[in-house]
Amino acid sequence: MFVLVNLKTYPCDPVAVADAVRDVNETTDARLAVAPQAAHLERVADTGAETWAQHVDSIEHGSNTGHTLAESVAEAGAVGTLINHSERRLKLADIDGAVRAAQRADLETVVCANNPAQIGAAAALGPDAVAVEPPALIGTGTPVSQADPEVVEGAVEAAANVDSEVSVLCGAGISTGDDVVAAGELGAEGVLLASGVAKADDPKAALENLVEPL
Ligand code: G3P
Repeated sequence: MFVLVNLKTYPCDPVAVADAVRDVNETTDARLAVAPQAAHLERVADTGAETWAQHVDSIEHGSNTGHTLAESVAEAGAVGTLINHSERRLKLADIDGAVRAAQRADLETVVCANNPAQIGAAAALGPDAVAVEPPALIGTGTPVSQADPEVVEGAVEAAANVDSEVSVLCGAGISTGDDVVAAGELGAEGVLLASGVAKADDPKAALENLVEPL
């Protein structure tokens, strides 16, 4: 299972979380990665933890003030990027352009979406993975695998109908190893989570709990 920890703009210490991600990754067959804010990418990547960007824009080098260039996050040490997170929604053409920009920079891609219909559309753009996250469950601590298992199963089916090479993650409210196991039983190949680690008093213990049953 892939466990991707999105730090959003939570006031956690990104380097301390990244140290924990790196250390716990060495103890498990699961794959752990962390997605800090763009400004923290380099410091986080320097820890040796697998590092992802939270966003890239559909742009190339040039006159694009305030945008995020895929090549720059790759140079900072990111190996992948989220695209179209629920808190950073893009228009369809910009999702497509961001996927192309990320591919140009050799970044792995996870395109986020709200529901199975959007997951099918996202999968058609050819990312490495898609992530289904019902916005209403984000940050609630109520796991999508329990509150809305149909949305996960529907997303797995929708992605497979479009492109069987695109893997499916699920997210929203995931915070325990049982949640990760439940996500896997619904057909997800990974989870995307944030508050369960970024807001934990002890992020390393939270990560250990997440991978313990895997
Ligand atoms: O990107 C992960 C996220 O949106 C889910 O957040 O806090 O419910 O794990 P959370």
